[in-house]
Amino acid sequence: MHKQIFESYQPLDRSSLIPLLQDIQNIYGYLPENALRDISDFVGVPLSRVYGVATFYNQFRLTPLGENIIRVCRGTACHVKNSANILYALESELGIKAGETTRDKQFTIEVVNCIGACSIAPVILVNDDYHGRITVKDIPKILKKYQTAPASKKPEKAEVAE
Ligand code: FES
Repeated sequence: MHKQIFESYQPLDRSSLIPLLQDIQNIYGYLPENALRDISDFVGVPLSRVYGVATFYNQFRLTPLGENIIRVCRGTACHVKNSANILYALESELGIKAGETTRDKQFTIEVVNCIGACSIAPVILVNDDYHGRITVKDIPKILKKYQTAPASKKPEKAEVAE
C-alpha cells in the first residue's frame, strides 16, 4: 500500500528519508518494519540508520496506536494542578509508560503540551473527548468507559449437542 509513495521521490536521495518516514506514518499511523526496509532500499541507507532516525525523533512511532488515544496534558496550567499524578495513575492502571500501547491494543498514552482547555485543568483528552478537572480517583471510571471486554471474556458459542 505504501509503495506508491515512492513515486514522488527520487531513488537514492538521502534527503528523502525524513519526508518518506512522515508519509509512511501518515498512512499506517506508525512505521511498520517492512516499510522501513523498503525505505532503506529506496533511499540507499542501511536499515540501522533508518531505525536510528525513526527512533531519534519523537514524532515517529514504531508500534501501532491503540484503539483509544489518551492525551495527557502536561502544560503549565495542568502541571500546577498535578497532571503528573494523573499521568502516573494512568500509567500504573494500564501498565504502560507514556508513548506506549497496551498489549491488548486498547489504549495508547501520549503526553502533550497545552490542549487549549486550561480552564478545566488538569485535563486529558481521550480520542475526541475532553475530561477536565479530573482527579486520580476518576481514572478507573474514565478508562472503563472506553474499554471493551477482552476477547477471552466474551461469551463463547454454545456447544451443539450431538
Ligand atoms: S495547560 Fe493543560 S490544557 Fe492548557
